[in-house]
Amino acid sequence: MTNVVTVLGSPRAKSDSSRLADAAAAALTGGAGASARHLINDLKHVRGCQACQSCKGKTEACVLKDDIAPLLSTCAAADVIVLASPVYIGEITAQLKLFIDRTYSWFLPDFHTNPEPGRLKGKKALLVFTQGNPDASTYTRVFEAYKAYFTRQGFKTEYRCVVVPFGPDHDQAVDAAEAEIRKLAASL
Ligand SMILES: Cc1cc2nc3c(=O)[nH]c(=O)nc-3n(C[C@H](O)[C@H](O)[C@H](O)COP(=O)(O)O)c2cc1C
Repeated sequence: MTNVVTVLGSPRAKSDSSRLADAAAAALTGGAGASARHLINDLKHVRGCQACQSCKGKTEACVLKDDIAPLLSTCAAADVIVLASPVYIGEITAQLKLFIDRTYSWFLPDFHTNPEPGRLKGKKALLVFTQGNPDASTYTRVFEAYKAYFTRQGFKTEYRCVVVPFGPDHDQAVDAAEAEIRKLAASL
């Protein structure tokens, strides 16, 4: 049974990236596993990483006591994490970036020199992005950087960015992308 946790970076619960992440989670569990869905925007008390380095010595987890802390633990217990975000000003949203910064706590204390630096080695991550810009290659460098980050953490990582046009072609584009994301998730 596959345990999937989805972390959504869009401020909108019924957004395109959220819908695609839901499709990925459904494909990953195949109807038999467990999946949980978390919209970071719904969390009341969130703090960015404080660079206190406690997770590199005193504890093996983030010591901040906010609503991100239990989400980090939930993700750490999952087989697959699905992270989704629209592109905002050429980057992922601030909501998802804040969460990802906190996953710094998953690195082992010797991560600078250790070739296998992550506590969560062997798990999988699927990154789902959406953008309005019709040029699909515009933000490749950004997406590759997040893929490289989670790969270095020890996750088997894939990503897909979907161009979601504004206007009458919107629904058809999301429907087609949903089928593609399901395939990608099933092959992860
Ligand atoms: C504040 C803001 C900034 C955005 N910046 C970009 C951008 O830099 N590049 C782009 O391609 N799309 C940009 N978009 C469009 C969104 O990425 C696009 O509409 C996306 O599909 C929305 O995903 P969602 O439905 O999951 O929220 C922006 C949208 C907003 C609201």
